[in-house]
This record gives sequence, C-alpha cells and structure tokens, in this order.
Amino acid sequence: MAGCSTDGESSSLSGFTGIAMPTQTSDRWVIEGGFLEQQLQEAGYKTILQYGDDDPELQITQIRSMVDQGVEFLIIGAIDNRSLGEILATAKNRGVTIISYDRLILDTPDVDYYASFDNYEVGVLQAKHILDRLGVQEEGVEGPFNIELFSGSLDDSNSQYFFQGALDTLERYTYSGVIAIPSNETEQEVTSTERWSGAVAMDRMTRLLEDHYEDRELHAVLAPYDGISRGVVYALEDFGLAPGTDEFPVVTGQDAEALSVQFIRDEKGQSQTVFKDTRDLAAVASGMVKSIVNGNDPEVNDLGTYNNGFKFVPSYLLQPVNIDQSNWEEELVGSEYLTVEDVDNAVEPQEF
Ligand code: BGC
Repeated sequence: MAGCSTDGESSSLSGFTGIAMPTQTSDRWVIEGGFLEQQLQEAGYKTILQYGDDDPELQITQIRSMVDQGVEFLIIGAIDNRSLGEILATAKNRGVTIISYDRLILDTPDVDYYASFDNYEVGVLQAKHILDRLGVQEEGVEGPFNIELFSGSLDDSNSQYFFQGALDTLERYTYSGVIAIPSNETEQEVTSTERWSGAVAMDRMTRLLEDHYEDRELHAVLAPYDGISRGVVYALEDFGLAPGTDEFPVVTGQDAEALSVQFIRDEKGQSQTVFKDTRDLAAVASGMVKSIVNGNDPEVNDLGTYNNGFKFVPSYLLQPVNIDQSNWEEELVGSEYLTVEDVDNAVEPQEF
C-alpha cells in the first residue's frame, strides 16, 4: 500500500506524481510548479502539472484526470479547501498518497502530509511592520493611528492563520486605543477577499475610503498578499493619495512578487512583503515523495498545529522572512529568487 514505510526497503512505486496548483496569476505558484516538476523529474519520476485557474470545479476535474492516469502521489495547492473530499476518497481507494501543499485541505481523512510555512508567523510579521513603521511602540506615542484590515479568501485555511497572527500582534494596541479601526470591520468574514483577488480588494478599499476617510487620515492597511496589497495601493492612489509621501498609509504584503518588490524598492505604495522561499517548499514536498518511493517515512517537524477537522495532519513547516526596503536585495536577489531585471521589468499579473 502506498505510503507505508518498510524500514528503508525500497517500495515498488515509480514516483508518478500529479501536481495540482491553484493559479498562474501569482508568481509564486508558477515558480514552484516548475520547481516541483524539475525536482521530481530529476529523480526519474513522471509528473503531470496543472493549474486550476482559481476555479474549484476545474481543479477537481484535473485531479480526477490525474488519478485516472494512475498517479501514485498527489501534491495539491487547493483552491477551495473544502471541496476535495470526494475526489480524494477516490484517490485514496487507489492507494494514492496525498500531500496538501501550502494550503491545508479540510474535512477529509485522506490527507497524508502537509508541507507549508509557519502561516501564523506571516501575520505576525505583517503586523510588526505596521507597528514599527507607525512608531507605535515608541515611548509617549498616543495615537490613535487609523488602520484597516484585509484578510484572504475564506475558502483557504491559511487566511485564518495569517489574520490571527496579525490580530494577536495588534491586539494590545487596539485595546489601549493607540490603534483604531474606524470602519469597525474586524471580523475575518467582512475583511475577507474572495479568491485573493486584487480587484475585489481594490473595491473594498475604495468603499472604506469613501465611507470613513473623507475627513480622516488612514495610517496603515494590513494586506495579507501582494496582489491584494497592490489593489489597495491602486485604490489609495485613485483617492488622491501619493505614494512615497507621508500621507500615504503603510501597506503590507506577502509572497515577494516581483511587482510588489519593485513597489517596495521604489516607494510606490507597498512597503513590506513576506518572502516564503517556495523553492524550499517544493523541495520539502518532492522530498516527501522521494522518501516514500525509497521506502522511508517523510520527515515532518510539526504534529500538533494543523487540524483539518479529521486529524492533526503531519506537517513540515518552513519559516517566512520579512522583507522591506532594507533587505529585499540581499534576501531575494542574493538568494537568486528574483533578479534585478525581474524587479525592473515586472508587470501586473492580475486584471484590475
Ligand atoms: C498562500 C500565500 C498566497 C495566497 C494567495 C495562500 O494560501 O499561502 O502565499 O499569498 O494563498 O495566493
């Protein structure tokens, strides 16, 4: 049976792997799809790589076709984390090992492993950037500083970890009144951004500005992902605020997308992102496949954080890195994740 270790005795598996990624409108998934294929093919395994265009039904169809073609492993970056139960049950019946990639698949017993980052820490880093930039922790600072909160897609379990990390970090300042949230929109549901869409975030930011900021200054926006951050920046610009000036709010992000890194470098509105080295994540997931093919148990480093409704899924978690104007070059160009040309020539991957 796939996935059972036999003490280092090589399995009879060939390593055939289906890789189901959510979208190509964000650099990270494109980069890691390529890495996953490369790392598995270098080991001599056959692969199928497909992107689901942020459409949960399409992703299910793609996974079904992978199972029909006889994959032994599935590496899945889910679009809707609650929609995969049925197809995964079919896969499991055929002995497929299922690795939940970056996003935890919920409400099914059929997930074997989870490879991701410390998602709570991502939100902590975003909130700390806001606190640092506003100087909130400096002595004698009274505020109030006005901030607004955005969270990710409700059908992605990561959203809740990012948001909780940020809220917990901001909490003592909102309680003490140093930070105010004039819209009062603080629950995950109202702050959420369907399918992580920058355009959806831009619309919400426009509404918040019109409703609450005609006569008030906005000091910071918690944005959980670079595509959302840029939607927020475009709305702020349309409202008449000029990036690079003191009147422009602090805007956070995640994923170190080339265009957002350009914004950070050139002070075009976003000032922070979180770098998750997706090459390492791809190596963790492909390493899990290799371990099982070689008859070993995959390495995990967390057994008690990620409960998917059925069980704590054995996980391997990597650490995210905070990026701002001071370290983008060292961290991103220095590690060859991006080149300066990538940053210079970046274009908007989403439709606004
Ligand atoms: C990922 C983030 C990404 C977001 C939108 C999340 O599940 O963890 O890295 O920003 O999806 O693609």
